[in-house]
Amino acid sequence: MAKIVILTGAGISAESGIRTFRASDGLWEDHRIEDVATPEGFGADPELVHEFYNMRRATAAAARPNAAHVALAQLERAPQHQVLVVTQNVDDLHERAGSQHVIHMHGTLFGHLCHSCDHRWPAPAISTAHDLCPACHQPATRPDIVWFGEMPYRMDEIWTALRGADLFVSIGTSGNVYPAAGFAQDAMRTGVATLELNLDRSSGSHIFDESRQGLASVLVPQWVDQICTAKPN
Ligand code: OAD
Repeated sequence: MAKIVILTGAGISAESGIRTFRASDGLWEDHRIEDVATPEGFGADPELVHEFYNMRRATAAAARPNAAHVALAQLERAPQHQVLVVTQNVDDLHERAGSQHVIHMHGTLFGHLCHSCDHRWPAPAISTAHDLCPACHQPATRPDIVWFGEMPYRMDEIWTALRGADLFVSIGTSGNVYPAAGFAQDAMRTGVATLELNLDRSSGSHIFDESRQGLASVLVPQWVDQICTAKPN
């Protein structure tokens, strides 16, 4: 059984209508990272930060998985492969396409976290800085999102899976944000084969054994079809 670890980024959800970050029409063109994606920004203006994530939650809730998400869910069901999706995305399109083994290393738009007692609970559609934590009753509600300067979730599990994989595939990510941007290099050091599927060449394309350029909705189903019909060695 081939063990495949798949890293996904904003590019896989772009064709579902969710904006990427670093394109000319990307989210970071309209919003400063320091204001909406750091603990300091949240401390300075929690209402602005809640509004930013309320807007993103509404967009994600209205979006539908595209052919790339669906193909990855199909791959997971193929008996000859063991698949783990590690996503930097905070939408739930992998799960809604049917993927069951998904790690949200940057958190989720659909969760809240208490910054006083660390309790987690499902996020309502609209949240405000005055919302109380249901466990400790403090007005300490924040989105369950990993911000710049914070440690992404479940890194030990991810590194263990990477080291034990036969193949690492990176889909729709620009390779600008660590630690995810270092996964291809980590994989290669332990002899894991690497493949990139992205709209254009990313800053780390040269590191991969193979890099294919095009739309995720085309490249991902093609690649899944290719490996599901390949004859075992
Ligand atoms: P970026 O916006 O940095 O990069 C998106 C990548 O997807 C680019 O390389 C695009 O070329 C590619 N792309 C766009 N449309 C595509 C399509 N239809 N098919 C295939 N590829 C496509 O987004 P990420 O790399 O995901 O973190 O960003 C990583 C992290 O930076 C995010 O998780 C977020 C952000 O700041 C935090 O907020 C902590």
